[in-house]
Amino acid sequence: MINVAVLGFGTVGSGVVELIEMNQAHITAKLENQLNVKYILDIRDFPDSPYKDKFVKDFSVIENDPDIKVVAEVIGGATFAYDYTVRALKAGKSVVTSNKELVAQKGYELLQLAKEHNVNYFFEASVGGGIPLIRPMHRCMAANEVTEVYGILNGTTNFILTKMIEENMPFAEALKTAQELGYAEADPTADVEGIDACRKICILSSLAFGHHVYPKDVYAEGISKISLDDVAIADENGYAIKLIGQAENYGSKIKAMVSPALVPHTSLLSSVKDVFNSVLMRGNAVGDVFLCGRGAGKLPTASAVVADILDAAKHFEFLKGWGWQDEVANRVLSQEELDFSWYLRVENTREELLAQYPDADVVFDENGVIAAITKVENNGEHQKKQKNLKVLSAIRVLQL
Ligand code: HSE
Repeated sequence: MINVAVLGFGTVGSGVVELIEMNQAHITAKLENQLNVKYILDIRDFPDSPYKDKFVKDFSVIENDPDIKVVAEVIGGATFAYDYTVRALKAGKSVVTSNKELVAQKGYELLQLAKEHNVNYFFEASVGGGIPLIRPMHRCMAANEVTEVYGILNGTTNFILTKMIEENMPFAEALKTAQELGYAEADPTADVEGIDACRKICILSSLAFGHHVYPKDVYAEGISKISLDDVAIADENGYAIKLIGQAENYGSKIKAMVSPALVPHTSLLSSVKDVFNSVLMRGNAVGDVFLCGRGAGKLPTASAVVADILDAAKHFEFLKGWGWQDEVANRVLSQEELDFSWYLRVENTREELLAQYPDADVVFDENGVIAAITKVENNGEHQKKQKNLKVLSAIRVLQL
């Protein structure tokens, strides 16, 4: 029997325990052994839970139990979760997690610690919920140089944008529904302002390009300023507005960023709706690999966490080549150094807009409001030009 401990009994933690019970026979066959949740750590009381005998409040019970080989950290955040992860790894236990905040902030350090103690630190659920992304990139694309990764990395905002586009649902109502469905972070600002997607693009960039990329170096903008007017104008002109994480390797420099973007209806990404996430990974041998699935929610996220538990239970020793190196300073290009095409909605005349952007396509012109899509050029130049206009909205256009 393989004994595991689950840290945190929230949406994901309860999903992990439920899934292990629901698929016990299948899991036993895969593992060729029985998987048993011996402890659940939570500061709250669950007197009516069928698992009430498994609850502990003191992490040292788990830390000091040699029967526990694998710990699933699904608490979230980077305080208690960090402390418990360090202690579990030092005690010779593998740790698996859905905690993108912790992996994005401390991934390199924790991977080093896992290596030193010859155990594993797995984080498949930290990006894309239930979509297999981390292992396909690490293992199946191992023969490739990954040159680019981009996609929809946050289920909550994709759910909100879908409701706004298809049901004309106000932003606040769509967010409330996403929270009720268990998609949103404890503080949904992290979803709405692009912070959660930023953590995820940091993890994907680190894995793809080999060195830790920290959220502090990555530009992140959310969807709170997107209006229904922009959604409608974009749609009429053949685009869906999506929150997109992007990373690209330029050798000594990389692009890594999160922002809303106009995605052409001809791209598969534009048809990815509701809580679904989708990521395109470009390898120099395989070409484009497009993965799609549920990016948040109880059982989809638990699916990835439990898969990691099984992998950790099958491979007790540190997985060779797993992870990435320490950061390279000043590697992430600033926004001014990048080139973009912009969708602009401005309170100007057509002449005023075209004086700044002679080659722009005007896509909307009513009642003193003009919307246009500019050609691709250096963003430093864009910022100077936009200062000469009364900009109501400025959204990047995704370059495929
Ligand atoms: N709040 C996150 C999302 C959960 O909506 O994508 C999954 O990481």
